[in-house]
Amino acid sequence: MSKVYQEIEKIFTTGIAEEYLGEDVKLVEHMLQCGDLAKSAGAPDYLVIASLLHDIGHLLVDDALSAQDAGIDMHHDVVGAKWIEERFPSTVSEPVRLHVAAKRYLVTTNHDYLSKLSHASVQTLYMQGGPLNQDEVVEFIAREGAEDAVRVRLWDDQAKVRDKQTSVLADFKEAIDSLTRS
Ligand SMILES: [Fe+2]
Repeated sequence: MSKVYQEIEKIFTTGIAEEYLGEDVKLVEHMLQCGDLAKSAGAPDYLVIASLLHDIGHLLVDDALSAQDAGIDMHHDVVGAKWIEERFPSTVSEPVRLHVAAKRYLVTTNHDYLSKLSHASVQTLYMQGGPLNQDEVVEFIAREGAEDAVRVRLWDDQAKVRDKQTSVLADFKEAIDSLTRS
């Protein structure tokens, strides 16, 4: 069994009870739902794993919930991407790094998008800087992994269904093993 898979398994197991900051699902459940949505959409393995791991930053930071209550942005996108880039190719880490910026991009460029966001997600949007300006839109879309980040983001927004049956982490093991450098 690969070392990286074991690390992820430990993080998911330890964080199993972790709440997802004001949402109706637990965080780990949300991440599994997101990975499943990417898989059902026929996404390549790197993007399925980016979707599965996109919120891992929340599980790596102590006390994410009280930070949010206090209005502090813990930058889980950056924390997660940093952890991932030490273990996976940039095709996996960059969409994770940009998945919060992708929300800001979508709010700016797609008028219906904001109305589809959950209450908690609208709340954090402003903590995360709100809509992008025109220069930032151009800058965002030119970054590595930006388009993939938008795809992850759209699955992310849908992956909040209470009591939905999901895959288990082991179902992603083969893809994780094939992507990890060891
Ligand atoms: Fe998420």
